[in-house]
Amino acid sequence: EDAWAALQAEVADCRRCGLCETRRNTVFGTGPATARWMLIGEAPGAEEDARGEPFVGAAGQLLTQMLVAAGLARESDVFITNIVKCRPPGNRNPEPAEAHACEPFLRRQIELVQPDLILLLGRVAAQGVLGTDASIAGLRQRVHHYPGEQRRIPVVCTYHPAYLLRNLPDKRKSWEDLCLAVDVASRSTA
Ligand code: URA
Repeated sequence: EDAWAALQAEVADCRRCGLCETRRNTVFGTGPATARWMLIGEAPGAEEDARGEPFVGAAGQLLTQMLVAAGLARESDVFITNIVKCRPPGNRNPEPAEAHACEPFLRRQIELVQPDLILLLGRVAAQGVLGTDASIAGLRQRVHHYPGEQRRIPVVCTYHPAYLLRNLPDKRKSWEDLCLAVDVASRSTA
């Protein structure tokens, strides 16, 4: 509890990279620290930066719908965050140095939440967390593991919901990935 609050305060005050100059709000993430699932996206967009919450725009609405369809409640079952906690100007991809500067926050969040499953949303999250340059097409539909935790945390990768909004036929694939994640998470708690 204290460690979580301390981490939140540290993120709120962060000046480890240049994104702090242009952000309106840091976006720590939302959901209980005790959530069984952890979802990781790329970076806050304009609406997330304005509200200080992840995935509140159109992509977030699609994500919420998909979670509900999978039997998960966004508020209670999942902790949602991003690779970087501040909005890159103009929604460009985070630079490697920015992702690197922010990485200890994500690592600490994973350590404290100890989720049964990590779902990585999109290429930037998948490549950043797994340390690979493989595509989502190559990473999805397989179970990976979070590197570095003593207890092996299963990781599933899927398309980013913002990508799905532009490529509706791939929603079916993302649904398959979510079903894999449900299956893996149920085995991981058993
Ligand atoms: N896209 C992301 O990757 N993260 C958000 O929080 C919102 C949109």
